[in-house]
Amino acid sequence: MGFNVAIDGPAGAGKSTIAKLLARELNFIYVDTGAMYRAIALHLLRKGVKIEDRDRFAAECRDADVTIRYEDGVQQVILNGENVSGLIRTEEVGNMASASSVDGEVRAKLLDLQRNLAKENDVVMDGRDIGTNILPNADAKFYLTASVEERANRRFKELTEKGVACDLETIKADIRERDERDMNREIAPLKQAEDAVLVDSSDMGIEEVLECMLQTIHKVRK
Ligand code: DC
Repeated sequence: MGFNVAIDGPAGAGKSTIAKLLARELNFIYVDTGAMYRAIALHLLRKGVKIEDRDRFAAECRDADVTIRYEDGVQQVILNGENVSGLIRTEEVGNMASASSVDGEVRAKLLDLQRNLAKENDVVMDGRDIGTNILPNADAKFYLTASVEERANRRFKELTEKGVACDLETIKADIRERDERDMNREIAPLKQAEDAVLVDSSDMGIEEVLECMLQTIHKVRK
């Protein structure tokens, strides 16, 4: 069993930024589970499945084979042999991933992949159900969150800097909708594990969040 760090939290809380930095600092691999759900979502979108087509999610994703590999330490997501890492970061794919991840069969498909990675490697793994469901015995667990306003502002800034035209109110509404779905689904909803450390980054900088998490991890590793 590797040393396992689990980070859960809502969309836009900064999980991936922090998880990447933590992994680099600790010399662990970073496992982005959201990217796996996004790869399945891309497959569904390519098949013409709509967010409302809940009854098609499971059947249409049966022939989606998702694996990951690392190139220069960076996770690559492979969908049926195709590296789709560059195609899954859109709002459309993110919203579809949130919708399709409510399905038990979609979730079951990714469970072993995630657990095996954590068994064989020291990992920082982020997602929605890592501390509660995937790695209930993780060595360190965090619930990283921030206010809806702050998360929307960060996303707006990120998209604007990339030159993507966007609207702050639409981003806020999307985040609220995603929170609602991720937190209230029946299977493995997003919630703070009882033994997770809560980190609210609304008024914290990246360095501060990182330092706070590293302190907790170093205590456990002693
Ligand atoms: O973290 P992200 O935005 O890339 O995740 C996209 C969606 O995938 C998220 O809204 C819900 C789903 N997801 C999940 O259900 N469980 C995970 N462990 C990770 C992501």
